Amino acid sequence: MVVLGVETSCDETSAAVIRGDTVLSNVISSQEIHSRFGGVVPELASRAHIRLVVPMVREAMKEAQLDFTDLDGLAVTHGPGLVGALLVGVNFIKGLALALDRPFIGVNHIEGHIYGNILSQQTFEFPVLFLIISGGHTQLVLMKDHLQYKIIGTTRDDAVGEAFDKGAKLLGLGYPGGPEIDKRALNGDSTFYPFPQALARDKGYEFSYSGLKTSLLTYLQDKDKSFLQEHLDDICASYQFAAVEILIKKTMRAAREFHINNIAIAGGVAANSRLRKRLEEECRHNNRHLYLPDMQFCTDNAAMIARAGLEYLRNGFYSEQNLNAYPSLALQSVTTF
Ligand SMILES: Nc1ncnc2c1ncn2[C@@H]1O[C@H](COP(=O)(O)OP(=O)(O)OP(=O)(O)O)[C@@H](O)[C@H]1O
Ligand SMILES: [Mg+2]
Repeated sequence: MVVLGVETSCDETSAAVIRGDTVLSNVISSQEIHSRFGGVVPELASRAHIRLVVPMVREAMKEAQLDFTDLDGLAVTHGPGLVGALLVGVNFIKGLALALDRPFIGVNHIEGHIYGNILSQQTFEFPVLFLIISGGHTQLVLMKDHLQYKIIGTTRDDAVGEAFDKGAKLLGLGYPGGPEIDKRALNGDSTFYPFPQALARDKGYEFSYSGLKTSLLTYLQDKDKSFLQEHLDDICASYQFAAVEILIKKTMRAAREFHINNIAIAGGVAANSRLRKRLEEECRHNNRHLYLPDMQFCTDNAAMIARAGLEYLRNGFYSEQNLNAYPSLALQSVTTF
């Protein structure tokens, strides 16, 4: 089955073509315009998607060396995300599906992140415990099989990616902040300052990241420029330590409690080098199998959307043109995420 995927939920305009688990193309245009504002400006994102969506789809088709008539189905992110940005991709795919007389499916963006990991593996075994860590989400999800999700924990406030981005902004680093902090932390001392790990003693699987951000703000209040210059790497390493360690503790505890041997991570923060290294160590020590996503499928991309869409389409589920009549499994994912 050949599927075209389109992703326009935030500041990446992406199009991809896959045949089964093989990615034939995956083109991504990251909108540079937002970096000067230190965050995504929704109106600018929508306008950029309008400009970019057709050229990106044409490029993806060209790279895949296919005609539109070779497509068996279409997939597009329908949420969560910026409404104006989502509308661009959704309406484009609805029009294309109508013109080609092919089925299309609206895909949940977070489900897409999950399939970005599955797409990275030669073989993938269920049940699996997914740690989803992105710009807008922090969740622990149990998957019994394809398209079956049970959320066991989520964040009470900010997402871990947001904590990285806002923390970087407070430290005068660029956007997105995650990769910047990750890079600096490599040369820093993670024990330099004990930033708080929220809900560490809590028996459940909820997360909280607003306190971490505030603690950095408070910490920086009486520090002068030269101190900051001298210890920027140490502060990044300490901040990252707090952000990442709590994720690892809760994930390993959930794997024990629910007797799950397979652990997987997904979303932009899954690219974090410390998190990947520490999870590898923990899984080795605790005899768990770890599925790490390819770096190219961590942050937003259309291949992950195409792969999630393919799973629905090949099981006979598709969206109606009015987008109200979601099939049951898609509805489940829409309401639970
Ligand atoms: N190496 C890294 N270390 C830590 N964070 C990272 C790294 N690389 C990317 N990130 C973070 O990942 C986030 C972007 O991920 P992603 O594209 O999945 O988020 P999003 O699409 O904006 O949010 P969501 O998927 O929840 O809707 C940003 O917050 C970014 O800082
Ligand atoms: Mg995302």
